[in-house]
Amino acid sequence: MTTIPEYDIARSAACPLDPAPAMRARQEEGPLTRVRLWDGTMAWLVTGHAEHRAVLAHPGVSVEPARGLPRLSAVEAAAMEAMAAREDGAGGISFILMDDPEHARLRRMVTGAFTVRRVEAMRPATQRIADDLVDAMLAGPGPVDLVEAFSLPLPSLVISNLLGVPYDDHEFFQANSRTIINRDSPAEVRGQAQYALGAYLYTLLGEKLARPGDDLLSGLAERIAAGELSQQEATQMGVLMLFAGHETTANMITLGALALLRQPDQADALRKGDDPQVAAAVEELLRYLTITHGGLRRVALEDLEIAGQVIRAGEGILAVNEVANRDPAVFPDPDRLDVGRNARSHVTFGYGVHQCLGQSLARMELQVAYPTLLRRIPSLALAAEVGQIPFKHDGFVYGAYELPVTW
Ligand code: HEM
Repeated sequence: MTTIPEYDIARSAACPLDPAPAMRARQEEGPLTRVRLWDGTMAWLVTGHAEHRAVLAHPGVSVEPARGLPRLSAVEAAAMEAMAAREDGAGGISFILMDDPEHARLRRMVTGAFTVRRVEAMRPATQRIADDLVDAMLAGPGPVDLVEAFSLPLPSLVISNLLGVPYDDHEFFQANSRTIINRDSPAEVRGQAQYALGAYLYTLLGEKLARPGDDLLSGLAERIAAGELSQQEATQMGVLMLFAGHETTANMITLGALALLRQPDQADALRKGDDPQVAAAVEELLRYLTITHGGLRRVALEDLEIAGQVIRAGEGILAVNEVANRDPAVFPDPDRLDVGRNARSHVTFGYGVHQCLGQSLARMELQVAYPTLLRRIPSLALAAEVGQIPFKHDGFVYGAYELPVTW
């Protein structure tokens, strides 16, 4: 009898920006293999690029916790039970965990705010934010923590402005978002964080109903007033966009800066690049770093045939995009960061109906962030050994808690 290997996402200390060695080993065995989870249940690990897309685009898969999504730890299982049990959905985080048609109904209400055209209109303000943050950094002594000085405030300010959330409350929403994303947060702590963000946004939506402004939450408030959306649904959409909208991009800025500062030739190419070259470099950094780690979760609702294997109805699926993005069949020499390559077909933003709503926004922020840092602070350098950097091994989103830099 062959034993099924254990699910193991531990990255190696020597190569903290590469996916877990155990995950790469599964990829060498085939694009679709089985793993054993902490509770002895089995899930399919999708590590091939083509298969990743095939699974995520398949109409026969679900993202709903109540339908049996794979659970990655005991604490997470408890959190999902609590979420699935709530009929009002108050513990939920909106359409990212809903199937169509409900998912599509809610997502459609906000897509207009994230189109390339709308995002481009935000570029000058984003550039001003980045420049102000660099001015503040340069006004004081180094070293500083790049996360606190630049990576976290930039996307937090952008998403606050877009949603109409007062940036003065950033410490509150950043701390609660970190708790939600942390895989090891005990169920009640995660529940409290979700509840706190929910209560905050519910109140804010109430204020927007009374005094609408020119922001996304006011747009949702209009829909509440028109009877198209409940205040509860709008609250959860707000929670989702607020936390998905800053923590992810912040980690990309931090890890991207780390990767570039460790490879001066790559930093130089980006620093000197024109706009299309900067855009291409951002795609490569998105591919190479793939910050959502451990696998996008799905459960099969029917028997599916992918890559000659049959995934049975009810079986769990982990579509591991950080490994699919290192598929040598699509990206030659995949472990090399090469900002000159064409990486557009990466699956960092997922694939299919749940593909990242904020991807144009994230791209624009990154296209502003890296060149601003590298051009305005040409002597920017790491102020710590890689071995001293605290990486976020514990979250759905990989990153670094701190990145000391100097100039
Ligand atoms: C570099 C930054 C980002 C990365 C790597 C990223 C990654 C992802 C991924 C992989 C998914 C798909 C999840 C799945 O299929 O299960 C997703 C969905 C989503 N993302 Fe992002 N994201 C980023 C930035 C943003 C930003 C700035 C926003 C702004 C609001 C955002 C909002 C969302 C939302 C609302 C969804 C759910 C979409 C749906 O279910 O239809 N993300 N993101």
